[in-house]
Amino acid sequence: MTLRIAPSILSADFANLAHAVSQVEDVGDLLHIDVMDGHFVPNLAFGPQVVAALRPLTKLPLEVHLMVEKPENFVDEFIKAGADTILVHAESTPHLYRVIQLIKQAGLKAGVVLNPGTPLESVSPVLPLIDEVLVMTVNPGFGGQAFLPDMLRKVAHVAQLRDTTANADYAIEVDGGVNADTIGDCANAGADTFVAGSFVFAHDDPAAQVKRLRGLIE
Ligand code: DX5
Ligand code: ZN
Repeated sequence: MTLRIAPSILSADFANLAHAVSQVEDVGDLLHIDVMDGHFVPNLAFGPQVVAALRPLTKLPLEVHLMVEKPENFVDEFIKAGADTILVHAESTPHLYRVIQLIKQAGLKAGVVLNPGTPLESVSPVLPLIDEVLVMTVNPGFGGQAFLPDMLRKVAHVAQLRDTTANADYAIEVDGGVNADTIGDCANAGADTFVAGSFVFAHDDPAAQVKRLRGLIE
């Protein structure tokens, strides 16, 4: 599996997102965009207009992490806005299968996200359908939180299940508290895609930070 770094613009300067994106354009593999509705998580962030505004500014694939209730009501707008991947929380809808179908039928990549308290078993029926499993390594809602080492076991389990589930071929992503101290453990557990917000953007030189992370896993 290719190793990928996904800078999360949640920790970027919101008054100058275009500049933030340009800083990671040549070193990042994906751009991670957090969408929060104030219900599913206790915070608000970004909407389809931001995705649409960033789309022409970057060649990086746009990965939209939906932290919203009733994601089925929003996927169309993010598809139209130019998202390449849409990640849906398992806990956010009773219609996970349907939401994934909607995303895939539109030709996008689809992923499922697991909160720290959500077992992997809850998404086993959709594993053959999806392109990515995102294991939250913090409680979702805010950047800059401490990594939860207990989640490494879940990452390893996600990797194990990929080997034993017919037709499963998904990337394994971690999000939350990923930094120079934690990325190695995540990679060793089986993760291949690493979201990093504050480690990249709460720093003078975001590109150097991305390169630093890459150097620790390649
Ligand atoms: C948190 C978001 C993350 C956030 C991670 O709910 O999903 O994408 O940007 O931030 P750091 O890397 O600072 O933990
Ligand atoms: Zn995220």
